[in-house]
Amino acid sequence: MQTVTLNNGVEMPILGFGVFQIPDEETQAAVEAALAAGYRHLDTAASYLNEAAVGAAIKASGIAREELFVTTKLWIQHAPAGNVQEDTKRAFENSLARLGLDYVDLYLIHQPLGDYYSEWRAMQEINKEGGARAIGVSNFHPDRLVDLIDHNEIVPAVNQIETHPFHQRGTDQALMRERGVQIESWGPFAEGKNNLFTDPVLSSIAEAHGKSVAQVVLRWLIQREVVVIPKSVRPERMAQNLDVFDFTLTGEQMGRIAALDTGTSLFFDHRDPEKVSWLGGRRID
Ligand SMILES: NC(=O)c1ccc[n+]([C@@H]2O[C@H](COP(=O)([O-])OP(=O)(O)OC[C@H]3O[C@@H](n4cnc5c(N)ncnc54)[C@H](OP(=O)(O)O)[C@@H]3O)[C@@H](O)[C@H]2O)c1
Repeated sequence: MQTVTLNNGVEMPILGFGVFQIPDEETQAAVEAALAAGYRHLDTAASYLNEAAVGAAIKASGIAREELFVTTKLWIQHAPAGNVQEDTKRAFENSLARLGLDYVDLYLIHQPLGDYYSEWRAMQEINKEGGARAIGVSNFHPDRLVDLIDHNEIVPAVNQIETHPFHQRGTDQALMRERGVQIESWGPFAEGKNNLFTDPVLSSIAEAHGKSVAQVVLRWLIQREVVVIPKSVRPERMAQNLDVFDFTLTGEQMGRIAALDTGTSLFFDHRDPEKVSWLGGRRID
């Protein structure tokens, strides 16, 4: 599997398997199927409420731990000022226990909300102590990312953000590259919004290669050096989404996909006060 090298030298598979919105009771079977299909990179989060099922699938697979790349995410901590670092460490230990692992490969701050500076300071310690081989963030706009970098010791290895043909994040990616932060796409298919799977431009490119629209989208992201973590509960789609390394999009095809960018989120804006308050109200761990 092709990898990217993170800013601390850790190798991260460029393609993995995401488990957001897979119900807890279906997650173990889905992850077992994904591992059987050949995925070795898994993306979960405390807030997905399915870490234990991911851990059970890892255990059942018998795959050696060092062959896997496992990411999980810290949900917003709510302790009064002064306790957030301790609470972050406790939340991390809870995630490890649910996953049944001694360490994760990547630990991310899930949302740029709350006292994430204290969370980051605890995560720097977790990283130094070997609990997480790399640490990073998710959903950070460039201004928040730069501020976090400028006021801390460890530069986030990754920023996992909404990235797909309708919200391409080219400017954000350029800034992240300058700052040594790897871009990772969430929602590579925009969860099917905007009729992505029947989009005429993507469909015609797919036809030209004898591939599916999903494969073209993943290939387009990989050619842009974006890490991808598509989600599917269907084994045939899991296999299809892995099979994207035997064709190359031309410059002209990359250009036609570039023209699909709307420059805005299809989900929600992390700067919208209502959404900020709604996310901040969720409590986990
Ligand atoms: N950090 C964050 O805030 C954040 C937010 C969202 C997601 N994520 C991560 O990113 C991962 C991926 O994003 P996502 O799950 O939101 O959405 P996604 O991967 O863009 O889309 C998943 C949808 O596409 C369908 N699908 C998958 N492969 C397909 C194929 N080959 N052909 C047709 N349809 C296909 C799936 O249906 P079936 O399952 O029925 O196949 C599902 O409905 C998540 O699982 C999670 O790990 C992170």
